[in-house]
Amino acid sequence: MTNDLTLNNGLHIPSIGFGVFQSAPEETAAAVETALAAGYRHIDTAAGYGNEREVGDGIRRTGIDRNDIVIETKVWVSDYGYDETRHAFDKSATKLGVEQIDLLILHQPMPQHFDRTIQAYRALERLLADGQVRAIGVSNFLPHHLAALREQTEVVPAINQVELHPYYTQPAVQRANADLGILTQAWSPIGGITFYPGWGEDRRSVLDDETVGRIAAAHGKSPAQVMLRWHLQRGRSVIPKSTNAQRIAQNIDVFDFVLSPDELIAIDALDRGVRGGPDPDEVDPSTWDLTIPEP
Ligand code: A2P
Repeated sequence: MTNDLTLNNGLHIPSIGFGVFQSAPEETAAAVETALAAGYRHIDTAAGYGNEREVGDGIRRTGIDRNDIVIETKVWVSDYGYDETRHAFDKSATKLGVEQIDLLILHQPMPQHFDRTIQAYRALERLLADGQVRAIGVSNFLPHHLAALREQTEVVPAINQVELHPYYTQPAVQRANADLGILTQAWSPIGGITFYPGWGEDRRSVLDDETVGRIAAAHGKSPAQVMLRWHLQRGRSVIPKSTNAQRIAQNIDVFDFVLSPDELIAIDALDRGVRGGPDPDEVDPSTWDLTIPEP
């Protein structure tokens, strides 16, 4: 197994990217610098995270050639629409301090305003054709959103980034992605959403799961490493988030052990079918009080 995945347009990305969701701007540059020093070469951010500028700062501080790093970011829904999304590229590229974005994706479907979602995706197609981005994709799309998108647009998304950890594996979404040739990228791959404060009551952290713990002990690895290895062996891209240097290093140190088929199946079986994040069909994200400032 290599630390590399090939997207449907031929672009190679590392299988483990570095996530910065909820990383405070003042912590982000240092975390990105630490991650790059630890060997990560793929950073996942979003206009909506408010830390694109700091991601760019962290990358530049390391002196690593920008062309050796895959930068992924997301267009927020308030910038959906053809012209708006083309301008969203300019905002993100300026904040990141780059000319070209490697992977630009739509942050959410807007089922309530799907025409604007389609126009946003058409803008991504144009950015791709013009060489301003190297690959395009989506996030939090359910199978019927993918089907509707495919009916009205040309380019098959390279990735669909969705909530995916042992307690919520979205088999129908994974199947739809696979059928269309879309890479499944897991957000909250070690289940941060199962314990982040403010995301619901009565949750159980998958980091404390007994089965995951037993498998981790058998391999002399941590529960987080076992979950990441499970994703990789299932062919998924992952973007674990951390601002802690030891955990940042731990999360990419998963290439010296192999889970058995039975262990993979045991982790698959932990799925509870209950999402931790918002249901893309129930929430109208345009009602969230979030607009993306000009650089
Ligand atoms: P921290 O930033 O303090 O390390 P996810 O990416 O699945 O959403 O998980 C992110 C959450 O998991 C964050 O709260 C992060 O906290 C924590 N985390 C990251 N790596 C590890 C690890 N190896 N072991 C335990 N917790 C981790």
